[in-house]
Amino acid sequence: MFAHLPPYAGDPILSLMESYQRDARADKVNLGIGVYADGAGVIPVLPSVRAVEVEDHFNSAPCTYLPMEGHTGYRQAVAQLLFGPELPDQNHLAIIQTLGGSGALKVGADLIARFFPQPQIWVPDPTWDNHIGIFEGAGFGVQRYPYYDADKKGLAFDALLSKLESLEAGSVVLLHPCCHNPTGIDPDRGQWTQIIEVLERRALLPFFDLAYQGFAASLEQDVWPVRECVRRGIAFFLSNSFSKIFSLYGERVGALSVFCPQDGQANNVLGQLKLTVRRNYSSPPLHGALIVARVLSDAHLRQQWEGEVNQMRERVHGMRERLHAGLAKVLPEYNFGFLLRQNGMFGYTGLSAAQVERLREQHGVYAVSSGRICVAGLNPGNVDKVCLAMAEVIRG
Ligand code: LMR
Repeated sequence: MFAHLPPYAGDPILSLMESYQRDARADKVNLGIGVYADGAGVIPVLPSVRAVEVEDHFNSAPCTYLPMEGHTGYRQAVAQLLFGPELPDQNHLAIIQTLGGSGALKVGADLIARFFPQPQIWVPDPTWDNHIGIFEGAGFGVQRYPYYDADKKGLAFDALLSKLESLEAGSVVLLHPCCHNPTGIDPDRGQWTQIIEVLERRALLPFFDLAYQGFAASLEQDVWPVRECVRRGIAFFLSNSFSKIFSLYGERVGALSVFCPQDGQANNVLGQLKLTVRRNYSSPPLHGALIVARVLSDAHLRQQWEGEVNQMRERVHGMRERLHAGLAKVLPEYNFGFLLRQNGMFGYTGLSAAQVERLREQHGVYAVSSGRICVAGLNPGNVDKVCLAMAEVIRG
């Protein structure tokens, strides 16, 4: 019956987790998956989240089905966080709760594929591997636009812009508003303005994927490109995730927003999103959404959580500086200044797949074969070892 099913080669990021867990070396270091660990190497339960979880009424609430579109208070609080003063009214915004950011990408992809036949999406080169998997899986043709300039170790801005200029009206373009995964390289404000002008002029459909709001500069500044599209009346899709910024990976808490600048469309878009959810998984889970809704809507908890996001961002930034300084010491002939121009959880080291393999095999340091490391997995106890290991594989 199943003889024709080929074996699965495994996911380039998630399989690394499994190998890391099987590794018996006591000094192994996990810089593979994008998960934030604190200075002691522990994935934190944020104090704001813990405060909600011990509330009596929280624990005694019945665990009923949520509606297809998710928890109302959650959707309102998330919309407020994402759009702030640019929050569109409900006639111009369709927002649903989803199973993390991946669930939002999948529901958005399914919706587009149903109503825009033979869809094409343009993704940055490189991008998160699963962008390609999710959109191909939903029937899209996936094409790449230039993003990373390996020689400059920076943004290939001119090539990016001229590729966007050449796309057909209605093409879907995937964009990372901040903390680009895997490179950590983001356009600056002036470059974003030029990108958005092209999106507008060429009538392209942006699909923003926001998994790291608050991890580049601040919760407000990191969503500037999204809010600028609202100000200009550009329709878009936006997936967002609370896995990292609430440290709620396993709860699968996210949202999908569709901004509908033309009157009279948001309601139908919302209806079709609900239908897409019903056909996929019926309705989203409750627990994580209740936590996020409570934290975002309570002034005290909200302030506390914002402080926690700032702390996580600053710790990662501090480790990025430690990594840079450590590498400069062990490899003085190389310039690692590019690491300091990258944002968020990831460092794009320029290591080859063969060097990454040696890091893992010989030193127990796990990274993605593209050369991406999760800087949020570094801490004062492992950063020197990582620098020495990187120096050894770079020198060959
Ligand atoms: C990552 O890029 O490591 C994270 O987004 C986790 C994942 O699902 O790949």
